[in-house]
Amino acid sequence: MKALILVGGFGTRLRPLTLSVPKPLVDFANKPMILHQIEALKAVGVSEVVLAINYQPEVMLNFLKDFEAKLDIKITCSQEAEPMGTAGPLALARDKLIDESGDPFFVLNSDVISEYPLKEMIKFHKAHGGEASIMVTKVDEPSKYGVVVMEDTTGQVEKFVEKPKLFVGNKINAGIYLLNPSVLNRIELRPTSIEKQVFPKIAEEKKLYAMVLPGFWMDIGMPKDYITGLRLYLDSLRKKTPSKLAAGPNIVGNVIVDETAKIGEGCLIGPDVAIGPGCIIESGVRLSNCTIMRGVRVRNHACISSSIIGWHCTIGQWARLENMTVLGEDVHVCDEIYTNGCLILPHKEIKSSLVTPEIVM
Ligand code: GDD
Ligand code: MG
Repeated sequence: MKALILVGGFGTRLRPLTLSVPKPLVDFANKPMILHQIEALKAVGVSEVVLAINYQPEVMLNFLKDFEAKLDIKITCSQEAEPMGTAGPLALARDKLIDESGDPFFVLNSDVISEYPLKEMIKFHKAHGGEASIMVTKVDEPSKYGVVVMEDTTGQVEKFVEKPKLFVGNKINAGIYLLNPSVLNRIELRPTSIEKQVFPKIAEEKKLYAMVLPGFWMDIGMPKDYITGLRLYLDSLRKKTPSKLAAGPNIVGNVIVDETAKIGEGCLIGPDVAIGPGCIIESGVRLSNCTIMRGVRVRNHACISSSIIGWHCTIGQWARLENMTVLGEDVHVCDEIYTNGCLILPHKEIKSSLVTPEIVM
């Protein structure tokens, strides 16, 4: 089987992290977002993943080269000269997606995280005999998404409405599709939206089916949702593979710590924390609801909550970072500094406290 991941876009809502790498390479739970997806695809027998991309393909390919061998999966890029939307890239990659077997192929939005129940999805797709399957999930604020109105027992989609202004339902498109090759005949080689121009037509012909996604789901393209997504992800690890979580007297709730990270005496870590490779957490540090990416040093008695600390930052002694502070790569926060909900661009040195949310350029 083949798969295509829609990678396009600049990831502006995840700045300052996306100033250093394309969004799919931003680490989530100690692993680039896109690797969570590639591993899940490999697990159900996908042999080739096509990255539909319109920005920095070299960076992506260089990075993923190692994983091609490690995961034994072919990873290629299909590069657009101009943004082709969410359907155009499928037409562009047509030859890579179709093979002699006539198998359906997966399409994923690159900014969502879930348990990827792809095996169940293949079963669902085979059973209904329609042309396309999509995963749906319930959310509180459906207007930000594509809303799906479906027949509950069969899953047959009655209506697909992208970003509705009026309430039509609370089941939304989770950005995970399984499509028959025939869907490609519906897409022209030009900028096209799969949500606005393709799915509504297939639904009209009663050939679009939706499956309610079991487990958690989150679009992690914004800092607040990224932090919520980490909580949901770790909660699901607790249920499925608790051995991957850290344990000990200084750990509370769900925490993952890379095996190469060092944690000093008297720290209190958790809940909902990810500590990446090579991090040094000195003594008496308090961390909760946060991500500490690769190579970060957190000095004695610093306190970090509800924040994302980018690669190779240093946090001074007695510093206090909170309320959705996001540090880009290689930021240095001096001793005793307080930050409240600040976005700090890469390579900055923070010498005075930032008491109200602001962007430091
Ligand atoms: N290659 C390529 N080219 N990819 C693109 C382009 C493009 O021109 N435009 C968007 N993408 C990619 C994005 O990177 C993302 O992975 C995916 O297509 C969806 O685009 P978003 O911009 O993230 O859309 P959204 O979040 O507003 O809405 C989409 O996702 C929701 C779930 O998170 C829709 O699919 C909604 O229906 C859905 O509910
Ligand atoms: Mg999105």
